[in-house]
Amino acid sequence: MDGCRFPVAVAFARPPLRGGARQFFLRRSAKVAITHSGMVLTSAVLVGLLLLMRSNSRPKDSLYVVITGASSGIGQACALALDRRGFGVFAGVRTDADAQRLCSIASSRLQVVRLDVTEPDTIHSAAESIRCAVGEAGLAGLVNNAGIVVTGPVELVPLELWRRQLEVNVIGQVAVIQALIGLVRQGRGRIVNVSSISGILAAPLMGPYAASKHALEAISDSLRVELRPWGIEVCVVEPGNVKTPIWEKSRAAAEELAKRMPPETEALYGRQIAAMRKATARMAQSGMPVQRVVEAVLHALTARRPKARYRVGTQTRLAAIFWRLLGESLQDWIMCRELRWPREGLRQRP
Ligand SMILES: NC(=O)c1ccc[n+]([C@@H]2O[C@H](COP(=O)([O-])OP(=O)(O)OC[C@H]3O[C@@H](n4cnc5c(N)ncnc54)[C@H](OP(=O)(O)O)[C@@H]3O)[C@@H](O)[C@H]2O)c1
Repeated sequence: MDGCRFPVAVAFARPPLRGGARQFFLRRSAKVAITHSGMVLTSAVLVGLLLLMRSNSRPKDSLYVVITGASSGIGQACALALDRRGFGVFAGVRTDADAQRLCSIASSRLQVVRLDVTEPDTIHSAAESIRCAVGEAGLAGLVNNAGIVVTGPVELVPLELWRRQLEVNVIGQVAVIQALIGLVRQGRGRIVNVSSISGILAAPLMGPYAASKHALEAISDSLRVELRPWGIEVCVVEPGNVKTPIWEKSRAAAEELAKRMPPETEALYGRQIAAMRKATARMAQSGMPVQRVVEAVLHALTARRPKARYRVGTQTRLAAIFWRLLGESLQDWIMCRELRWPREGLRQRP
């Protein structure tokens, strides 16, 4: 822009020119403009490249990160990736066996902490030992990753399982944030909440899980603005289907639940549950590698300008843009088609 303005200004400052002289002057002005624009463009590209190089260059010495649910899947992969990059990682696990296994595959820098997000005692003692270890440095990041999946028809899932779902995926995350926010503030760190595509849309028979992830999205939105005065970034990572043990765990949990369901369940929901089982098996098969989520978490923790939301996978990106725009009729049609939902009864009205 400046390059264009400069010769025009010169032209106005000179006495009016005529004929060949005028054409010569305009040609010269155009050349100056092009050269000047070229210089501006080159400088802009160089500045852009410099910014890009700086974007991932926060020094990692004494940068401490806490990750919940690091015994498997996304949490473990993030813990190991950060460990390899030189971060001081506190990896939250729930059993001694997981602690030993994780220690055996990580560097000696990684520290395992016993952390069940539903047990205040373990949260408190984990927070204390982390506080002692990091000292003045505080925390550079807190990754709230721990999660479970409770599925089933809204009307039939026992309330105790609804409570368990929300306790682990929602209250547990808030409890950990509350316990560690002082250290995050001290270290001007970041909070990364691992949500899901289920935080954008709610599939049938996924009511408890989708409710928990929608809640986590809302909490993250409030928190992001609340923590702005301290420069603490709050990021949400929303993966689509990822290949992790969660699929096998939720299948086993659904089978356990089926045993406790009332006898009328089969007559009411048998076909839908069967369709969902097949759909879940397809999703588990086609899941993306965990590394895709790790990259998003790493960006959220280290980029100079992290994003508020990381939509990981095509489905999540499409859902984030279009889902709300579609309207409920089209949403329901797409959902039924994707899940190969039984058609009978769809149009039944009382
Ligand atoms: N895989 C996907 O397709 C997918 C997609 C979108 C979002 N996500 C989200 O990604 C996160 C990680 O899931 P994942 O796929 O990596 O599954 P995963 O391998 O099953 O990991 C879940 C982790 O959470 C831990 N956890 C469960 N209950 C806990 C509790 N009460 N306190 C502390 N930790 C607890 C588990 O520990 P234990 O081993 O001790 O049970 C495990 O380490 C979850 O929040 C999940 O909702 C996953």
